[in-house]
Amino acid sequence: MKLTEKDILVDGINISYIEEGEAEDAVIIFIHGFPFNKWTWENQIGVLKERYRVIAYDVRGHGESIATTAQMNLNQLTDDLFSFMDAIAVESAIICGLSMGGYIALSAVISQPARIEALILCDTQCGADSHQAKQKRMDVIDSVQKNGLTQYAHDSVQKLFCEASLTEKSSEVSSIEQTILHTSVETIVNTLKALAARKETCSSLHQINIPVMIIVGESDQITPPEVSQKMQDLITGSSLQVVENAGHLSNLENPASFNGHLQDFLTSIQQISTRL
Ligand code: MLT
Repeated sequence: MKLTEKDILVDGINISYIEEGEAEDAVIIFIHGFPFNKWTWENQIGVLKERYRVIAYDVRGHGESIATTAQMNLNQLTDDLFSFMDAIAVESAIICGLSMGGYIALSAVISQPARIEALILCDTQCGADSHQAKQKRMDVIDSVQKNGLTQYAHDSVQKLFCEASLTEKSSEVSSIEQTILHTSVETIVNTLKALAARKETCSSLHQINIPVMIIVGESDQITPPEVSQKMQDLITGSSLQVVENAGHLSNLENPASFNGHLQDFLTSIQQISTRL
């Protein structure tokens, strides 16, 4: 599928993004997980582009977004989202974020709720890192600084995909492994530090009063269904969908099921807005 790739300079950062659909359509912005890129949303863009203005961007340092990643933090990644929206003249949008993308989406809805029309939170969580999780990230930092990314990329895909995907989805597995290998060590290290330092958002979820769908792979080992259930309990009116035959990358591992839930949710929002 040929998708339109663009670049825009935002606060001195070159942001690379895919944009499809018509200017007058409702806008959906996709935010990828760590350490991936905008192309992980290709399957979703393909099915939505006839009805929505669909945008997926590379978070700073990832994919083809060139930017310094020194002293990164979640607030800065959230500010990047808003500055990017300003640059492409999008006042408000539906935001769909996976894992790190979900952390950014949650931080965004808490800081500027008026700019977020609806949320799709995929394979993500509202909790901060435990002491043990922080330590694990520091161990990874040590290891990639000493040994490079080969072992890290190999170990990561074993955790990201469910068992069935590891054997049956070899092209997706190898594409994610290559994506990790093509990310700079600097981005891996500095993003890991930013993720380790992120604050919890669970205590603010009661403030959210827009439509929210939470979606998670049934075999997600990184952010398992229980943590999605916790978010659903804290967000009034939210729905939770569990994607079968999928791990942490539910949109890639089972796009048919993921896209079905996505389209149903978007249709339900449209019905609400036409009734108002
Ligand atoms: C991601 O997929 O974005 C990561 O698993 C997030 C994290 O490491 O917390």
